[in-house]
Amino acid sequence: MTNNNMYFIANWKMYGNLSSITTLKSIKIFSKTRKLKKTKIIYCPPYTLLRPFVDTLKSSTIKVGAQNCHHQTDFGSFTGSINAKMIKSLGCSYVILGHSENRREGENDKIINLKIKSAIKENLKVIFCVGETLKEKRKNKTKIVLKKQILNGLKNISKFNNIIIAYEPVWSIGSGKIPASKDLDNIVIFVKSLLRKRSRLKNIKILYGGSVNTKNIKELSKIRSINGFLIGGASQKTKNFIDIIKKTIN
Ligand code: PGA
Repeated sequence: MTNNNMYFIANWKMYGNLSSITTLKSIKIFSKTRKLKKTKIIYCPPYTLLRPFVDTLKSSTIKVGAQNCHHQTDFGSFTGSINAKMIKSLGCSYVILGHSENRREGENDKIINLKIKSAIKENLKVIFCVGETLKEKRKNKTKIVLKKQILNGLKNISKFNNIIIAYEPVWSIGSGKIPASKDLDNIVIFVKSLLRKRSRLKNIKILYGGSVNTKNIKELSKIRSINGFLIGGASQKTKNFIDIIKKTIN
């Protein structure tokens, strides 16, 4: 069985400059492979590279997204901020929200909820990140934390078609550690059933993120409940990113 209906999202964080554009050539060619027809490849570079990425990738099926946005939809006096409308107007289709690196800087569930609403209003697809810290995991609180983050983040939202959840345990991001397959499967199934109850939607996509690399992808891709991957460090080298996609869909 092939795994070709999957999401592969490259989260470049605060890395990259204009010269990074040249690395997109090989993935553009790769994305035209027949086998990848249903596969969704999305690049989320820093704000400064959104437009160059959109321009470079426009003749391909690869989409571009931002890594965050301000919660206010209208223009306003928010120095240093970018809103969903601006992101959309650049030709982007996605935005990552609720990433733990932003929660760490003080972003809370309430703000994330407003951000999700503003992104949906602008017709952006939301990659909504949730995940527990090591301390919470050790106290067996993973499911409680996820439930709280998800229910608060999605409060008063009824349109779920444009929302994808990325389960990213905080202790796994950039650490080289990933959850045991059995635990991961269990958590993804838990999140899916929570969302099914909350939204009555059957096909919400759940991605996994945290230290995904060319070595552990074979194991991770065997977990059938997972609909794709949010990839940080390993996505910055196009060769590795392509390798991860190849190993998943084959
Ligand atoms: P990582 O990051 O793959 O480098 O662990 C994932 C993320 O933060 O989205």
